[in-house]
Amino acid sequence: MRGFFTSTLAAAALSCASATCSGFKDRTASLGSSNSTGYDYIVVGGGPSGIIAATRLAQSLSNKTVLLLSRGPGPTVNTGASLTVGWNDSLTPIDVPGLSTAVALYERGNETLFSSYLCPDAPNVYAACVLGGGATVNYMVFPHPPNHDFDDKWPTGWKWDDVSEAADRVWSLNPGTSLPSEDGKRYDQGMYTTVSKFLDAQGWSAVDSSEDRNNKTKVYSYPNWDIGNAERVGPLRTYLPLAEQLDNFSYRVNSTVRRVLRDGSHSTGVEVENEAGAIETVSLNKGGKVILAAGPWNTPKILFNSGIGPLEQIQTVANGTTGVALPPQKDWIESPVGQAIKDHPIFTFYVQTPDNWTSYNVSTTVDGSDVDDINLYEQEGSGVLSQGYHRMIFWTSNVASDNITRYYQGSVSPQGQGLFLIKGYLTHGATSSGTMGISANGDVDYVQKPYLRDAGDQEGATLFVEEMLEGMSSYNGWELTEGYTNVSYILSTYTQGDHYVGTANVGTDPSTSVVSADEVKVWGMDNLHIVDSSIHADLPTGNTQAITMVVAEKAVEKIIEAVKKAF
Ligand SMILES: Cc1cc2nc3c(=O)[nH]c(=O)nc-3n(C[C@H](O)[C@H](O)[C@H](O)COP(=O)(O)OP(=O)(O)OC[C@H]3O[C@@H](n4cnc5c(N)ncnc54)[C@H](O)[C@@H]3O)c2cc1C
Ligand SMILES: *[C@@H]1O[C@H](CO)[C@@H](O)[C@H](O)[C@H]1NC(C)=O
Ligand SMILES: *[C@@H]1O[C@H](CO)[C@@H](O)[C@H](O)[C@H]1NC(C)=O
Ligand SMILES: *[C@@H]1O[C@H](CO)[C@@H](O)[C@H](O)[C@H]1NC(C)=O
Ligand SMILES: *[C@@H]1O[C@H](CO)[C@@H](O)[C@H](O)[C@H]1NC(C)=O
Ligand SMILES: *[C@@H]1O[C@H](CO)[C@@H](O)[C@H](O)[C@H]1NC(C)=O
Ligand SMILES: *[C@@H]1O[C@H](CO)[C@@H](O)[C@H](O)[C@H]1NC(C)=O
Ligand SMILES: *[C@@H]1O[C@H](CO)[C@@H](O)[C@H](O)[C@H]1NC(C)=O
Ligand SMILES: *[C@@H]1O[C@H](CO)[C@@H](O)[C@H](O)[C@H]1NC(C)=O
Ligand SMILES: *[C@@H]1O[C@H](CO)[C@@H](O)[C@H](O)[C@H]1NC(C)=O
Ligand SMILES: *[C@@H]1O[C@H](CO)[C@@H](O)[C@H](O)[C@H]1NC(C)=O
Ligand SMILES: *[C@@H]1O[C@H](CO)[C@@H](O)[C@H](O)[C@H]1NC(C)=O
Ligand SMILES: *[C@@H]1O[C@H](CO)[C@@H](O)[C@H](O)[C@H]1NC(C)=O
Repeated sequence: MRGFFTSTLAAAALSCASATCSGFKDRTASLGSSNSTGYDYIVVGGGPSGIIAATRLAQSLSNKTVLLLSRGPGPTVNTGASLTVGWNDSLTPIDVPGLSTAVALYERGNETLFSSYLCPDAPNVYAACVLGGGATVNYMVFPHPPNHDFDDKWPTGWKWDDVSEAADRVWSLNPGTSLPSEDGKRYDQGMYTTVSKFLDAQGWSAVDSSEDRNNKTKVYSYPNWDIGNAERVGPLRTYLPLAEQLDNFSYRVNSTVRRVLRDGSHSTGVEVENEAGAIETVSLNKGGKVILAAGPWNTPKILFNSGIGPLEQIQTVANGTTGVALPPQKDWIESPVGQAIKDHPIFTFYVQTPDNWTSYNVSTTVDGSDVDDINLYEQEGSGVLSQGYHRMIFWTSNVASDNITRYYQGSVSPQGQGLFLIKGYLTHGATSSGTMGISANGDVDYVQKPYLRDAGDQEGATLFVEEMLEGMSSYNGWELTEGYTNVSYILSTYTQGDHYVGTANVGTDPSTSVVSADEVKVWGMDNLHIVDSSIHADLPTGNTQAITMVVAEKAVEKIIEAVKKAF
C-alpha cells in the first residue's frame, strides 16, 4: 500500500512524456503560445475546489481542453518543490502529517515555509497561494458535513438529498481517515483518555464522526484527517493524478490570474501574471467557459478586477495603483460580491490537569534526532508522525433566546505535561456576517468583520463558554490557565477561524447572491462560473475543507450537465 500515490504519479509522469501531453513535465511551459491557441475550459485556482472541477471537466466532456492555472508554487516533490524534510529527499514538510504544526519551522528563502505559501496581498487574514490551496497549509481536520449544513439555508437544488451523491464521489476518492497509522494503532493517546473521561462524566458520547455525521450535540470523536497512505492528501494527491493522465488536461503553477477578459457579458479568456511578472493572455475557444476557484479572498479580487462587484469596489480598482485595466464602465456589473462573508470565531481554553502525559516534541523530527519515530514512519508508514496535530474533536449545540440552534466544535490538542488546549469554534447556526473589499494597492481585507455581531451569536457563545468553564474548573484538580480563566476574557480574545465562506454566494436573487443556483454562473455573465468556498450559502458545522470538496463536485456536475443539455 505504501507509496501508492507516488507510483500513480510516476505512471502519470511516464504517460505524459510525449510532447502532446502537458501534465507535470510541461507545467513551466510559457503561456505566451496560448495567445493564439485557446482552451475550452480555464479553471482558475488549484485549491481543493479548482482541482476537483478541472479533473471532472477533463474526464467528462469529449474533445474539450481544460487548463488549470494556479498562483504560487507546487508544494510536493512531484509538483516541483525542492525543500524536503532534511532526512528524506522525497518528502516535503507538508507531506508528513506529524509535521503539520512545524511548517513554520522550515525556512524557504527569506521566509518560513508556511508564510511563503500565504498570499501576500491578504495580509490580515489567511489565504493560501500554493497548489493544493488551504489543504496544503492546514491541519487536515476533515469532518464530513451533516445534512443540516445544506438543509437549513442553501437554495433549492443544494439540499443534502441533492448533494449526497457528490459527497459519495468525494469520499470514494478522498475519504480521510481517523486511523492513519498503517499498523492500525493510535499513538500518543494520553490526552484523549483524560479528556474523554471528563466528557463521559458530563454525559457526552463517543461517536465516529464520519459514520455518525448528523449527531452533533454532546459528542466527541477521534479526528478524521485528510491523510492517505500516511501522507497529507487532498485533491492534489487524490484527483490531480487522474487528470494528469488525460492528454486534454494541463496545468500551470506560478500563474496568477489578474482578471477575466470580457466582451460585455461574455468571457473571452483571462489575463495572467507569470512568475517573472510578465502579463500574458490565455484565450477561451468559442463556446468555452472560465471557472473561478481562487478561494474566498482571491475569487472576489478577480471579480472586482473584472468589473464585477459593488460599484465602490470596482471604483477602487479604477482609482488604484495596480494597473489593472477594467472593462468600459457601461459593462460593469453591480453584484454583492464580498457582502456576505462568514467565518467561525474561535475561543481559547488552556487546561492544566494533574495527569502525566506530555505532547510530542516536533522539533525532534525537524532536527532528525527522533530516529525511532522517523524510522517507523519511513519504513512502515506508522507511528506518531502519521497522525495530525489534534487528538480529539468534539461538538455540541445550544439554543439562544432567538430560538436558533447554534453549534460549537472543539479541536483539542496536547500542549505539555498534563496541559491541553481547546480551540472552541462557534459554527453552524451563527447568524452574523460581514463584508470584505479591495484597496487601491490590490490588497484584500475585511471591511466589516463577521464575528459575534448579532445578539443571538453573543448569547449562544456566552452560554457555550460558561458551560465549558463551569464543567472544567470543577473537575478533578483541573485548572484553567494561560490567562483564559473567565468568560469575558475568553469571548473578547476570539481569533479568526480561517474558514471563510460566502464571498460570492449562491442564490436565486441577483440582488443578494453572486452566482445562480442552477449552474453556479455569475449573474450577468454568460460563461463565467464559480465553484469554490466563496459560493457557500451558509457556515458549516465543522472545518470547511471537506464540505468545500462536496460543493465543488456538485457545482462542476451542474456545469457539465448544462453543457451536455446545450448540445
Ligand atoms: C491556515 C489555515 C488553516 C486551515 N485549517 C483547516 C483544517 O484543519 N481543516 C479544514 O477543513 N479546513 C481548514 N482550513 C480551510 C480550508 O483549507 C479551506 O476552506 C479550503 O482550502 C478552501 O478551498 P478553496 O478551493 O475554496 O480555496 P483555497 O484553498 O483558498 O485555494 C485557492 C487556490 O487558488 C489559487 N489562487 C489564488 N489566487 C489566484 C489567482 N489570482 N490566480 C490563480 N490562482 C489563484 C491559490 O494558489 C490556491 O491554490 C484552513 C485554512 C487556512 C488558511
Ligand atoms: C499575448 O498577448 C498579450 C496581450 O494581449 C501581449 O502583450 C503578448 O505579447 C502576447 N504574447 C505573445 C507570445 O504573443
Ligand atoms: C474528437 O476529435 C477527433 C479528432 O479531431 C475526432 O476524430 C473525433 O470524432 C472527435 N470525437 C468526438 C466525440 O467529438
Ligand atoms: C479527455 O480525454 C479522456 C480520455 O482520453 C476522454 O474520456 C474525455 O472525454 C476527454 N475530455 C475532454 C474534456 O476532452
Ligand atoms: C514557482 O516559483 C517558485 C518560486 O516562488 C520556484 O521555486 C519554482 O521552481 C517555480 N515552479 C515552477 C514549476 O515554475
Ligand atoms: C522575501 O523576498 C521577496 C523577494 O524575493 C519579497 O517579495 C518578500 O517581501 C520578502 N519577504 C520578507 C518576509 O522579507
Ligand atoms: C448520538 O450518539 C450517541 C452515541 O451513539 C447516542 O447515545 C445518542 O443518542 C446520539 N444522539 C442522537 C441525537 O442521535
Ligand atoms: C475614485 O476617484 C474619484 C475621482 O477622484 C473619486 O471621486 C472617488 O471617490 C474615488 N472612489 C473610490 C472608491 O476610491
Ligand atoms: C511522569 O513521567 C515522567 C517521564 O515521562 C516520569 O519521570 C515521572 O516520574 C512521572 N511522574 C509521575 C508523578 O508519575
Ligand atoms: C524539543 O526538541 C528540541 C530539539 O531536539 C530541544 O532543543 C528542546 O529542548 C525540546 N523541548 C522540550 C520541551 O523538550
Ligand atoms: C523516504 O520516505 C518514503 C515515503 O515515506 C519511503 O518510501 C522511503 O523509503 C524513504 N526513503 C528513505 C531513504 O528512507
Ligand atoms: C422554536 O423552534 C422550534 C423548532 O425549531 C419550534 O418547534 C418552536 O415552536 C419554536 N419556539 C418559538 C418560541 O418560536
Ligand atoms: C479575566 O481574565 C483576564 C485575563 O486573565 C484578567 O485580566 C481579568 O482581570 C479577569 N477578569 C475577571 C473579572 O476576573
